[in-house]
Order: sequence, then C-alpha cells, then structure tokens
Amino acid sequence: MPKATNIKPYAGLVSIEDRCKLLNQKGATIWFTGISGSGKSTIATTLEKALLEQEIFSYLLDSDNVRTGINQDLGFSEKDRKENIRRIGEIAKLFVEVGFIVLSSFISPYKVDRDNLRRLHEDANLRFFEVFVDCSLVEAERRDPKGLYRKARKGEIKGFTGIDHPYEAPVSADLILRTDQLTLEEEIAMVLSYLKSKEVIGSQYLNPSNSLNTQADKVRS
Ligand code: ADX
Repeated sequence: MPKATNIKPYAGLVSIEDRCKLLNQKGATIWFTGISGSGKSTIATTLEKALLEQEIFSYLLDSDNVRTGINQDLGFSEKDRKENIRRIGEIAKLFVEVGFIVLSSFISPYKVDRDNLRRLHEDANLRFFEVFVDCSLVEAERRDPKGLYRKARKGEIKGFTGIDHPYEAPVSADLILRTDQLTLEEEIAMVLSYLKSKEVIGSQYLNPSNSLNTQADKVRS
C-alpha cells in the first residue's frame, strides 16, 4: 500500500494500445525463476538476441545488474529479496506498458511474490508468463559458474538459495525448462514456440496500415 495520501494516478493522453501500434507489438513480462546456476540469465540473454533478430523489442532485467543499480540497497534477507522482486515487478510493468517484452531473470524464491507479480500485471490487463528454469541442485552446484556454491558450502556465504535459504518451486508455471536435460538451443526453441502459441510474438502483429488513433485524437474529437 502506498505511504502517500492524496494521490491520484493520471492516465495520460497516450494509451498502451497507441504505443503498441507504434511499435507493432504487444508487451509482456516473461519471468524466469530458478536457483542460482540454473541457466536463467543464459536463456534470457540468448532470447533477447533472438527476439532482436526478429525485430521484436525486448529488454532484459538481470539480477546482478539491477542489484548494482536501483536495488543496491538490498541484500539477501527474506525482506530484501521480497523488496527486490516487488521493485523489479513494478519496473517490468512499466516496460510492458511501453510495449516491450520484458525478460526478467531473478531467483525470486517465494511463490507468494511471484503470484503477486502475476496479479500486478493481470490487474492492469498486462500479460505475465512464469517460466520455471528447473535444474537440480546437484547440477547447478556442479556448474557453479560464479563459485558461489563452493563458498556457501564452506560457510563463507550465509543464506544461499538452495543451501541454507529456501527456494519454493513453481507449482503452476506457464512453461518449464529442464535445463539439466535440454540444450540451450532446445530451450530457446521451446520459449519462442510458447510465445508464438500465446501470440506474444508472430501473430500479435497489428495491421501496419492501421492509422494511429491516439487517446489525444479521442479527446479532441
Ligand atoms: S533473489 O532471491 O532476490 O531473487 P537475485 O536473483 O536478485 O535473488 O540474485 C541472485 C544472484 O545473486 C545469484 O545468481 C548469485 O549470483 C548472487 N548471490 C549472492 N548471494 C546470494 C545468496 N545468498 N543467495 C542467492 N544468490 C546470491
């Protein structure tokens, strides 16, 4: 709930639909969740490039980048992780309102927080898809791309997800990618095909001959 009182959000004269027409696409958040080392960022960065090649605007929100910027005041306590995810959700929503496809890569360990993200989007008529980047702890620990599991096992990092901090696996993810069983190419193909089936890409394209009928026009007429 907002702390401030006496505030009234303003809709503006340009609608989300206006911006989507201009971009010739419709926004959506694709939320990748999974333990550290599961492959979230690899999938999201590869996907961002693949979408660019199809002339689709997308934008990647990635934990280490966000945590050195807007969320640099947050650590890994339960409270901070929740605030981390809440802020990213709001940022993702803003990008979706611009018409972008947001690729969001965060452990996001708590189910209730991910459910809140979905509600945040759906209450505003925006699309949200949860992708579970599913990888066994054994495999993630074997990969250990940043050497963090090794440190956590030695007790040099406290509260590490999967070791001594919980990860609540999704129970009804829109898409599951078993990254310990699939290749990166297969995973990207699965996501692209899923996004097509949901008309996030491909057939979502609006008729380019449609003239812009902006909120401003509607107000004027
Ligand atoms: S979340 O839990 O709040 O969603 P987030 O995805 O932003 O986490 O950050 C996770 C990344 O931070 C990991 O990939 C890892 O590189 C790093 N990290 C550092 N400390 C921890 C920790 N205690 N638990 C998990 N990841 C950590």
